[in-house]
Amino acid sequence: MSLELRNVSRTFDGKRVVNNISFSAQPGEMIGLLGTSGCGKSTLLRAISGLDSGYDGEIAINGDTTKEIHDKAGFIFQEPRLFPWLTVLDNVTFGLKGDKKKKISRAKEYLKNVGLEGNGDLYPRQLSGGMAQRVAIARALVTSPEILLLDEPFSALDAFTKMQLQDLLLDVWKTYQSTIVLVTHDIDEATYLCDRVIILRGQPGEMDKEIQIKETRPRDRGSKHLAAYKAEILESLDLNKPSIQIS
Ligand SMILES: Nc1ncnc2c1ncn2[C@@H]1O[C@H](COP(=O)(O)OP(=O)(O)OP(=O)(O)O)[C@@H](O)[C@H]1O
Ligand SMILES: [Mg+2]
Repeated sequence: MSLELRNVSRTFDGKRVVNNISFSAQPGEMIGLLGTSGCGKSTLLRAISGLDSGYDGEIAINGDTTKEIHDKAGFIFQEPRLFPWLTVLDNVTFGLKGDKKKKISRAKEYLKNVGLEGNGDLYPRQLSGGMAQRVAIARALVTSPEILLLDEPFSALDAFTKMQLQDLLLDVWKTYQSTIVLVTHDIDEATYLCDRVIILRGQPGEMDKEIQIKETRPRDRGSKHLAAYKAEILESLDLNKPSIQIS
């Protein structure tokens, strides 16, 4: 599915928090939204998801701007947000409709895809942070969303789990060819995963720059090419200069 934002702004209590954002994503494209804290990344993602309809401007999914269509999007938050009283399996089947047997076999298939085969009977309190986030990923994917929206999905995880789940996301993306919008403030994550990175700056957040990451996949996390993209992004965020002058 394609996604297009045209002059999207959001104002809360008379205060503009994101201003005039326009960009589009082709079907199957992975877009990164990168920016410092408070520039309106989550606000934008909520507007795209349909969780918040109070924005100005237009958001079109496959050319359709009616807000109901936004339920085609799956959302993964920074923290897993599982129901503590439900098992892993029941958390994943929760949003599914229809025949119980089919729901269970589908949920099991997705738990396998995220590396949690055999863990369906556990409760959220029995999971590590990485496992819980995998459940959240399975829960979002099981509904086959054509657009997947991720709000800093890996930021609470240790570096190793983070890398594993980034690779899992790439697998999922290859398999399901979903269109993805990934909010992150991790520049390495953005350059490793995304086709295009949109940089937001300021308060209210505005689009500063769009950088196409032309590196083919699989990408090498340590490659000079990715390092050059990182430098370009740091430069545009004014973070590439030493803050202390040593003479
Ligand atoms: N429901 C709301 N009511 C009032 N102000 C809000 C609301 N939601 C967000 N804001 C304000 O909008 C601004 C942008 O918030 P947002 O959560 O989108 O930032 P962000 O870029 O996701 O930041 P972070 O990287 O810290 O998650 C902030 O100043 C925040 O206080
Ligand atoms: Mg946020």
